[in-house]
Amino acid sequence: MNHRLSLLSARQTAADVLAVPAFEGEVPRDLDPWVETLVSSGEFTGKPQELSIVPQPAGYAAKRLALVGAGKREKSTAAEFRKTVSAAVRSLKGKGLTNVVIVADAGHVAAAVEGALLGDWEPDAHKSKKDAKRLASFTVVVPEGDPALETAMERGRHIGEAQNFARDLANDPPNVMTPSVLAERAKTMAAAEGLQCEILDEAAMRKLGFGALLGVAQGSAEPPALIALRYKPAAPSAVHLALVGKAVTFDTGGISIKPSENMDQMKFDMCGGAAAIGAMLAIARLKPAIAVTAYVPAVENMPGSRAQRPGDIVKSLAGKTVEVLNTDAEGRLILIDAMTYAIREGATHLIDAATLTGAIGVALGRVNAGLFSNDGPLQDRVLASAKAQGEKMWPMPMDDEYKEMLKSVYADMPNISAGRGAGAITAAKFLEEWTEGKPWVHLDIASLAWLDEAKPWMAKGPTGFGVRTFVDLAMGWR
Ligand code: BES
Ligand code: MN
Ligand code: ZN
Repeated sequence: MNHRLSLLSARQTAADVLAVPAFEGEVPRDLDPWVETLVSSGEFTGKPQELSIVPQPAGYAAKRLALVGAGKREKSTAAEFRKTVSAAVRSLKGKGLTNVVIVADAGHVAAAVEGALLGDWEPDAHKSKKDAKRLASFTVVVPEGDPALETAMERGRHIGEAQNFARDLANDPPNVMTPSVLAERAKTMAAAEGLQCEILDEAAMRKLGFGALLGVAQGSAEPPALIALRYKPAAPSAVHLALVGKAVTFDTGGISIKPSENMDQMKFDMCGGAAAIGAMLAIARLKPAIAVTAYVPAVENMPGSRAQRPGDIVKSLAGKTVEVLNTDAEGRLILIDAMTYAIREGATHLIDAATLTGAIGVALGRVNAGLFSNDGPLQDRVLASAKAQGEKMWPMPMDDEYKEMLKSVYADMPNISAGRGAGAITAAKFLEEWTEGKPWVHLDIASLAWLDEAKPWMAKGPTGFGVRTFVDLAMGWR
């Protein structure tokens, strides 16, 4: 999709449709006489995601005028505006209006572009016949436009494209998106964007001692990979942020096999890794002041004849042993080795994103991701970025009493907790054992990584959750 900033007036900009966002109770009256009718009849009130179309508006170069509900002005934020634009784009392109112009405040130019890109994405990469339409062009008209807004527009484009890149990686089916293919995609992106890329293959990991990760991988014919994508700022930085993303390209559960109902959804078990890789795309282009590296452990969790068994004891890269009591608790096993590798490479701060537990959805539903941390300041930074970017996250308890539930007679740690309840928290307490005291945030994104049904502002399928927060965090760090 071609996108532009127009410094012409809204009246002069030609398009299929000129979209005018209107807050509840403040619909502009000077647009076209038909707008009066729509408002006085109650057909358009300005509620979120409402849309009314006026054909052939008088005095406009655009063929249609669309009033777009923007909700209450008091609740208006960049995140809300992004959703307003996404929802408008999804509904307008559905009507065949694919050359879209939207009016935005100067402060919302980036959000407008992001919204258009996110709303335009469809999970149809593997369909021969594309049912959904795509935008041909998207133009933002800014009253009292300033050419400096080009920068905001580019920023919006980079973030929107990064999130859609993560969604494309996650959308590919599990027979296509194997650990090796994910590594190849990351490598190609890195070469195009000027990032350094290192791929550790199975032999390299065996030599280094990635015992926990390799134990998960051994049940699959697909070889594992540890993907590292490195960004270094021009001026050396004392901060080295590691973005660790779980990439289980398919999670059958292994020998502790999952029920077959909805097992296809486990192709999304690599969404944490996709978010880390996607974020690096925007980071490469936007160039934050700190060093950032994505570490993505990629494996397939299969019950092959060489698969690990419940009862196996593996030795993690850090040297601690783990009794694998449930082969379906595999995410934490691959993450700990990636975290140790990041720390050995000098990471000063760690953030991991993982579709780690079904339990997080029981606790928080599909509204907030679970946030777990051992460090107040880093937790506050991540929460501030998440809030600014409209990615909801909720801090979860990390009391040491939860660690009592992790006891193994035969090894240093079990990979699952004894007793019932707090499954998302005990998973986090397990990871914490491998942080070596570094400030760390764990995001359990299991219930936010994909949508089972489309929302007005987003297609069904992978959401790219986490990308925006990662990019915002890196960009805001001084
Ligand atoms: N990938 C799953 C978690 C998951 C489940 C994500 C459903 C999204 C939707 C993870 O590897 C897993 O299987 N976790 C187990 C842990 C349990 C064995 C302690 C779970 O949540 O059931
Ligand atoms: Mn699992
Ligand atoms: Zn999993």
